[in-house]
Amino acid sequence: MDRVFHVKQSKLNKLVVVAIDGPTGVGKSTLARKLADRWRFLYVDTGAMFRCLALKWKVLGHPEEDEALQMLGDNTHIAFSAAGRVFCDEQEVSAEIRTEEISRLASRVSKFEVIREVMKQQQRQLVAETKMQQVYSGAVLEGRDIGTVVLPDATIKFFVDADPKIRAQRRTDQLLEHGQHADYIEVFNAIQERDQQDQTRAIAPLKPAEDAVLVDTTQLTPEQVLEQMSDQIFNLAHSD
Ligand code: DC
Repeated sequence: MDRVFHVKQSKLNKLVVVAIDGPTGVGKSTLARKLADRWRFLYVDTGAMFRCLALKWKVLGHPEEDEALQMLGDNTHIAFSAAGRVFCDEQEVSAEIRTEEISRLASRVSKFEVIREVMKQQQRQLVAETKMQQVYSGAVLEGRDIGTVVLPDATIKFFVDADPKIRAQRRTDQLLEHGQHADYIEVFNAIQERDQQDQTRAIAPLKPAEDAVLVDTTQLTPEQVLEQMSDQIFNLAHSD
């Protein structure tokens, strides 16, 4: 108990970059946001970035040609407020990007190489700026390919997973909380479909990095997971 208290009160003694990957509904966003609050990290929800592109991709009629996808990536300005609101081309889209339709389209648009390349460069740029500006003690990025592709040199990588039934239940609860329609069976099937799509795509598929710490959240409360991850970040930051 003493040590947990000690960790909570302490500062990190070096800039830390945390990569969190895992499938949908494992609580990555909540964990990443809480870690960011605790350690004063920049928090980047990379799924929200793909979701912003999906919103515009839908309006464009789902083009698949490289040129159209490149224009979509290059001409979309994505920004986050400190409170986690999401802006696409200066318009707030925080709620709009969270529908099941946009979840499916984000998974589909994320398989294109051109799109992945643009996102990778933007995500790396956010980390480079964090390192330069030294306003934050580090950055935490969560997504599907952060530890494997975007930030292979991250200070620490976590791969968070949980039983698909638990994930479907959590996602259903989340949608209901946001006042959206949610049916457990539909959500379960949609999760299976998205997992399949994210894990089997040719470029940057969802998988744990070889050096990732595996975290199974099936039996744990968010607080327990947070303590585990926070402890590991603290230990790593003070290891040399
Ligand atoms: O984390 P999320 O559910 O908001 O992500 C939405 C989709 O975006 C997900 O199904 C796959 C894609 N994605 C990705 O391919 N790579 C990332 N780093 C993050 C998300």
